[in-house]
Amino acid sequence: MNKLNHIAFIMDGNGRWGKKRSKGRNYGHLKGVETVKHVVKSSIKFKVPIITFYVFSSENWKRPKKEISFLFKIIKNYFIKEIDSVINQGIKVNIFGNINGLSKDLRKIINKSTQLTKKNKTIIVNLAINYGAKNEIVNAAKLTKKNINLKNIEKKLYTKNLPHPDILIRTGGHQRLSNFMLWQLAYSELFFLKKLWPDFNSRDLHSIIKKFKKSTRNFGAI
Ligand code: IPE
Ligand code: IPE
Ligand code: MG
Repeated sequence: MNKLNHIAFIMDGNGRWGKKRSKGRNYGHLKGVETVKHVVKSSIKFKVPIITFYVFSSENWKRPKKEISFLFKIIKNYFIKEIDSVINQGIKVNIFGNINGLSKDLRKIINKSTQLTKKNKTIIVNLAINYGAKNEIVNAAKLTKKNINLKNIEKKLYTKNLPHPDILIRTGGHQRLSNFMLWQLAYSELFFLKKLWPDFNSRDLHSIIKKFKKSTRNFGAI
């Protein structure tokens, strides 16, 4: 049985989910936040030590201004409304991504949340906001300066001292990585689901974990 340390999620399909119900893309994003809360709870139940959510990519700035501002409104609301519940559940919140590209008030709220939760031990929840893997790697190389080797680069990635994802789950039907954790996913088991993110549930998660535990991981060996 494989040991499971870390699951990463590309939560795709919110917009289509909302449109399919004739309620608009933003309705899907709202529903997507509910799925995040359920997935965190289920991950705690299934004793997954670390989970990472792709919240907003460095390429998502290409979207219409209205959608971007709605997304950041619900991200901000999440931090404000959920902080007590996050603390009560023993969640440690980390942020991956270029925080400097975010508004000052969101940065403040984010810093407060990471500060308030830094000693929590039940689960680590990484939120990738304004995140792009190519930038992460270039920055790590720049910060390393001399002695560019695997270990030194790893130390400068957002994942620093964390194990890399064992499992990647992408909902929404596309089989691509969209600039997400390109370094850390080198040996992850990839699961692509047709289901849209708002429809993803605890049973889906459980069945993926079961499959993963029984899978053969070689890491190049035989
Ligand atoms: C993913 O859902 C959420 C974010 C990128 C913030 P999408 O918004 O990409 O939904 P679809 O893929 O257009 O349906
Ligand atoms: C990936 O979804 C980004 C997030 C889930 C935050 P996208 O919808 O942005 O990906 P592409 O553009 O279809 O590849
Ligand atoms: Mg999408």
